[in-house]
Amino acid sequence: MSNTNKPWGGRFTEATDAFVEAFTASVGFDQRMYAQDIRGSIAHATMLAKVGVLTAAETDSIIQGLQTIEQEIEAGQFQWQVSLEDVHMNIESRLTALIGDAGKKLHTGRSRNDQVATDMRLYLRDELDEIMAQLRRLQTAILDLAESHVDTIMPGFTHLQVAQPISFGHHMLAWCEMLQRDAERFIDGRKRVNILPLGAAALAGTTYPIDRHYTAKLLDFDGVAANSLDAVSDRDFIIEFCASASLCMTHLSRFSEELIIWLSQQFSFIEMGDRFCTGSSIMPQKKNPDVPELIRGKSARVQGNLIAMLTLMKAQPLAYNKDNQEDKEPLFDSIDTLKASLRVFADMVPSIQVNKTAMRDAALRGFSTATDLADYLVRKGVAFRDAHEVVGKSVRFAIEQDKDLAELDLVSLQQFSSAIEADVYDVLSLEGSVAARDHVGGTAPKQVRIAIKDFRQRIA
Ligand code: ARG
Repeated sequence: MSNTNKPWGGRFTEATDAFVEAFTASVGFDQRMYAQDIRGSIAHATMLAKVGVLTAAETDSIIQGLQTIEQEIEAGQFQWQVSLEDVHMNIESRLTALIGDAGKKLHTGRSRNDQVATDMRLYLRDELDEIMAQLRRLQTAILDLAESHVDTIMPGFTHLQVAQPISFGHHMLAWCEMLQRDAERFIDGRKRVNILPLGAAALAGTTYPIDRHYTAKLLDFDGVAANSLDAVSDRDFIIEFCASASLCMTHLSRFSEELIIWLSQQFSFIEMGDRFCTGSSIMPQKKNPDVPELIRGKSARVQGNLIAMLTLMKAQPLAYNKDNQEDKEPLFDSIDTLKASLRVFADMVPSIQVNKTAMRDAALRGFSTATDLADYLVRKGVAFRDAHEVVGKSVRFAIEQDKDLAELDLVSLQQFSSAIEADVYDVLSLEGSVAARDHVGGTAPKQVRIAIKDFRQRIA
């Protein structure tokens, strides 16, 4: 057997080892970029016709051939061949089989090195649009939940200990803020994705009179890569995406963790639709929060993909090296995992039912208005450190009595400070406590309502 079926077979006398062929092939995973590969090739051929390297007839026949191939792939009729290594050579070889000699001219002034870099950028760009759509859908779902619970009071936590009462809507807005930073990172990274490498050819550029700006325009790129070596070797845009995806998954993982805690019998803060939970094969009573648990788990692989990409690049000399073929699976896995996680999260959030009574009871049990009592004493002229001491003693007394601060009578409270008067009960109530934090970014329902409205405008 010779290597004559390979597009690069000319200088070889010995056939590729069968195992090496399978080992070096990427077609098993890069075929998912077929649409981008075809789009890039059509633009390249169109540009070659414009500058007179191909005739109009050759280009027409190339474009028609590529369109036929796209249909074949979509109909599941395309024969992918491992011996043809990757998506690029599979499509090119089929093109020549379909249209003859014109097909052999498509690769003029191009290399797989700039071709694959172009395909990756087109692919990630398409996926980024999808990811952004899912992200917005999730933010909207969280905002809707926040809006129906502006006045629902829950305990806010630090150290997972009851800290101060907050509006549940306010808590939900915190997640929206995190996702908003994720969205901004994806949008910003897209600027560096959207640069055309094509024209760099193998690494040094090409001797044909190509018009890279024209190709960029045809493919909606914002500009052309300024250095041919950098163009074929740069994978920063993938690392950046993997980093943004990792952080977004970290946010989803933290959110999942809260849902899991809130769903536990000990908290019982929320209920979730049965369709997002599973049972146990042995314990009939169980309803497990598998979806949030799995998202928390999946964040690990997305973080792993970032480290894989950084390590892949760290010792590579210029320009293209075959190592770069290893950029695909981490990227694709991060895209798939993030997209699926966002999607299932956005589906799940509207199924959350809030147990207002459990949240309220938890806020009452935890002396969550103790800070309000201290602030009250300060307003009556007591120094904050002294006020802190007074409240500490009151809390200890309340614990002994098995009561909340608001349940202690005035005489009991006054034994700790004569500054305490009958109006103290206004600040000891949960409603009084949240309403008092009435400034931008605070938890007063009035502020939360404004914040939700503002947020809807920010993402519109
Ligand atoms: N399959 C290759 C990759 O994914 C395409 C580029 C191959 N270029 C080369 N000179 N062998 O990176």
